[in-house]
Amino acid sequence: MQFSSSIPIEPSATLTINSKALEKKARGERVYNLSAGEPMLAPHPAIVEGALQAMHAGKTLYPPVAGIPELRQAAAQWMRTTYGTWFEQKNTLVTCGGKFGIFALLEAYLQPGDETLIIAPYWVSYPQLVKLFGGVPRIIQTEEKSGWKISMSELKKIETKIKILILNNAANPTGAVYTREELKNILGWAKEKNIIVISDEVYSGLVYDGAEYVSCGSFPEHQDHVIVIQSCSKHFAMTGWRVGFVFAPEEVIKVLTMLQSQSTTGTSSISQWAALAALEHATEIIPTVRQAMEQRRDIFIKTFAQLFGITLSVPASALYIFIAMRHLQLTHSDSVQFCRELIEKANIALVPGAAFGAEGYVRASFGADANELCESLQAVAVYLQK
Ligand SMILES: Cc1ncc(COP(=O)(O)O)c(C=O)c1O
Repeated sequence: MQFSSSIPIEPSATLTINSKALEKKARGERVYNLSAGEPMLAPHPAIVEGALQAMHAGKTLYPPVAGIPELRQAAAQWMRTTYGTWFEQKNTLVTCGGKFGIFALLEAYLQPGDETLIIAPYWVSYPQLVKLFGGVPRIIQTEEKSGWKISMSELKKIETKIKILILNNAANPTGAVYTREELKNILGWAKEKNIIVISDEVYSGLVYDGAEYVSCGSFPEHQDHVIVIQSCSKHFAMTGWRVGFVFAPEEVIKVLTMLQSQSTTGTSSISQWAALAALEHATEIIPTVRQAMEQRRDIFIKTFAQLFGITLSVPASALYIFIAMRHLQLTHSDSVQFCRELIEKANIALVPGAAFGAEGYVRASFGADANELCESLQAVAVYLQK
């Protein structure tokens, strides 16, 4: 059978490792899963109640394609009050997770050959999605010693015509968080070059140590070329409910709504009512999830130091520790081979740095509970001693 030429993109590396881990677990094996990018927490009762009420009230037919108006309104309001953004209901689209928002945007904007700037280490799906729509990923590397952030001098060196910049703030897998000043400079540069900025902000609620979070939607002078991606997945611990948002100029929302009407029809109505309940309790739920994740991050760092004698740099946000393989006393830096061996021989799931555009690293998630984290790290140490 001949499939379309756009298919040779690769499956998500994180989801592939996670599915392998889940398969082994389903067979009754003990699996140490440090691969899943999700806060492993029970849903807040208000979220469950929101879903139950919707079901009992029969709010289970097709919702409006752009999302239920109450949720669009609440999401725009939440962005305005939390981050000082300019979005209103008409600038808000409800999607099947943040991922579909990015998918639809790239589908809407990319023409074959269009260059999309992606900052490495990057979220695994960006280059693959760009390729899916005929675009060309233009990868720009950052380094651990500069906090994994892109500098203006590096951006200014780019000579080719870039159509889109995907900026992930706060970042998976590095936890990098940009300051207002840094964002102002990046957005100013993008505007001058006529570049559309897709600011993926799905980890905005998981910024630690009391640090401030600045949204790219809080620069009104950049309204015409900045689009923000949000999600209920991470800071509400709602990964399985599949609710995300795109915040953009109204004409962009209209085009994406049309794409959504011919693809997903929108996300589940029940999930949308649950997401509305989450937003109504945001000031209670987000700090609780954040606090739990911050504690897990600290336990991970402490346990790693005890087992491996190295204090890793502490990520400022998100759910991941991006570990240089030399800190595991490995003599090689083939992350794919190492992660394959780990899952096959020791039932430990880590994601290879190569999938994020950073060979020589592995990504561990600290979304699991403290016991699971400690036992998993212990299992890594035992495997490496063999
Ligand atoms: C950086 C980043 N963006 C977007 C997503 C998509 O999240 P969701 O589709 O669950 O909203 C993820 C999920 O891991 C992510 O890490």
